[in-house]
Amino acid sequence: MTASATTRKRAESLREQIRYHNYRYHVLDDPELPDIEYDRLVRELEALERDNPEIVTPDSPTQRVGAQPVKAFGSVAHKMPMLSLENAFSEEELRNFNRRVVDRLDVDPGSAISYAAEPKLDGAAVSLLYENGQLVRGATRGDGTRGEDITHNVRTIEAVPLSLLGKGFPRTLEVRGEVFMPRAGFQEFNEIARAKGEKTFVNPRNAAAGSLRQLDPRLTAERPLDIYLYAVGQVDGGQLPKRQSQVLDRLQDWGFKVCPERRVVEGVEGCLEFYRAMGARRDLLAYDIDGVVYKVDRLDYQAQLGFVSRAPRWAIAHKFPAQEELTVIRDIEFQVGRTGAVTPVARLEPVFVGGVTVSNATLHNMHELHRKDVRIGDTVIVRRAGDVIPEVVAVLLERRVKGARIVKAPKKCPICGSAVLFIDEEAVARCTGGLFCPAQRAEALKHFASRRAMDIDGLGGKLIEQLVAVDRVKTPADLYHLSVDELVTLERMGQKSAEKLLKSIERSKATTFSRFLYALGVREVGEATASALASHFGNLDALVAADEEALQAVSDVGPVVAARVHAFFEEKHNKAVIRGLIDAGVTWVERESQAPVADGPLTGKVFVLTGTLAGMTRDEAKDLIQAAGGKVTGSVSQKTDFVVFGDKAGSKLTKAQKLGVKTVDEEGLKKLLADQ
Ligand code: IVH
Repeated sequence: MTASATTRKRAESLREQIRYHNYRYHVLDDPELPDIEYDRLVRELEALERDNPEIVTPDSPTQRVGAQPVKAFGSVAHKMPMLSLENAFSEEELRNFNRRVVDRLDVDPGSAISYAAEPKLDGAAVSLLYENGQLVRGATRGDGTRGEDITHNVRTIEAVPLSLLGKGFPRTLEVRGEVFMPRAGFQEFNEIARAKGEKTFVNPRNAAAGSLRQLDPRLTAERPLDIYLYAVGQVDGGQLPKRQSQVLDRLQDWGFKVCPERRVVEGVEGCLEFYRAMGARRDLLAYDIDGVVYKVDRLDYQAQLGFVSRAPRWAIAHKFPAQEELTVIRDIEFQVGRTGAVTPVARLEPVFVGGVTVSNATLHNMHELHRKDVRIGDTVIVRRAGDVIPEVVAVLLERRVKGARIVKAPKKCPICGSAVLFIDEEAVARCTGGLFCPAQRAEALKHFASRRAMDIDGLGGKLIEQLVAVDRVKTPADLYHLSVDELVTLERMGQKSAEKLLKSIERSKATTFSRFLYALGVREVGEATASALASHFGNLDALVAADEEALQAVSDVGPVVAARVHAFFEEKHNKAVIRGLIDAGVTWVERESQAPVADGPLTGKVFVLTGTLAGMTRDEAKDLIQAAGGKVTGSVSQKTDFVVFGDKAGSKLTKAQKLGVKTVDEEGLKKLLADQ
């Protein structure tokens, strides 16, 4: 029976799709489809071709191993082809594989085959060639027969030995393994890229493959790459042991890294046990694995079994649930973190990925959302690996539906309604609610009570979390209304410690303006900035009244900090919190603002005070000068306009005279204040 036109058409369409995705994956290092989806396409094509052998074309992707090497790198011929592995997605498929092995080998049908079992590492396959124990060449797998010369890049990987240890290694030894990027390194790399608004890698495998194919080895050297070796290729002038497991032991002796999780297991039952054990440990490993590989341990058996077109008959990859899947975005909402970061979160059509059903995934931040152009209704790749929060890694643009909806950042915090501030240099949008926002409450309170802020001794993080959990403390002002009776109901809180805590709460009321500002926890306002603001403005009213320009007049306050401070005091919730604190008895010493008055009679003039004035203290004189727009500094220089001298004036007066700076006494100062 010949294949129908529909079957032929479908096969051709699958081939075209697979070719395109091969190119994205192997050449561009930028796959568009999750592996599992790609595998589905390949399996569908394989099944069609199996059932209708007459439709197989010589250029069908099923007839080849991988993609063409890229021209930018020199090309390398693999003396022994670098093959791929057949996949088993179920126990049944594994049992079929084992049955085929037993049938082909001349062994007792009931006997259990020994398999070398290893994790299937999710990275990029490489070949390393050693001549007389020296690394002479590193290559990618490429299409299996020709790869790319990446010697300069593999040399930068610390785990790749440049010369072999010990003795007894063959004159020519080609080893094969997987270069991978451990999950932590991958996360960190992406976080940095995200913060800079740069392109992130979709997954660690992609990051490894992309890093290996950098044209500049210095870039590769900066990437946290590692390698495990799992096979040998060409061997001349030497002998290797007779089992896969022993070969790996030997490789380890010569200085290669091999995966410490490998085991020798007996028969299918042993394989399944290993599969389950690795599955349970999968999330705990430092690197991504996408399954386990079983290889017939005896190399003479391997030789008897031989190969089919793309893969050996003596090995199979038993796959774990995919860590990347396709699903549809139902909605995009915003979550507020403990530090006020407003994060877009995708509500998904539930999908089974990484071993669990996922219905929410993070979109990280607005920059990232825009860069990836994620819209409601889009089909996306969701990734869940390890215990990392599931994330949306890419959109399948060709599946975008009409009416897919763009989402804008919220102007108001979805939790507390405060303004959300989006600062260009920072990818993150933040709720300005601070103390008021329930999402940020516990963190804000911990900061408020900390030693360098209000210094409430005995009010630790655990206690704060309890108080927030029972809703007893909503704002810092509530701390000042706690009673012993209430406190003793909390965990690990006796009468004595409750009394002690209330005392330190009471004691914290008398503070300084600078500590108070720091305690408010305005983002970007650390101790130094709080102190600069306090001494510049002197009092709360002046600070609250300052616009962004006036704030930038404070030393070390730039546009970002000015915007944050301004937004904080604009928020009426924050004003209410401050009022509550003052009403509860929090006090500090205020003084006149030192902010220069922009249009006073002395604006722009610089004064130095020396000696004792008869009719006013020096502080009073200072206040008067500042109120008229002048500035008071401590030492005389060319920049000084006037030195005001009183009784027992010292060296400052002499210096002024030397420099030709004008000098005035108290009467002269009063005249200046009145005259101009
Ligand atoms: S053995 C002839 N062992 O999986 C056998 N491959 O799907 C060739 N891989 O290209 C491979 N971990 O990149 C083998 N422990 C392991 C592996 C492993 C990951 C990769 C390798 C290979 C691909 C085949």
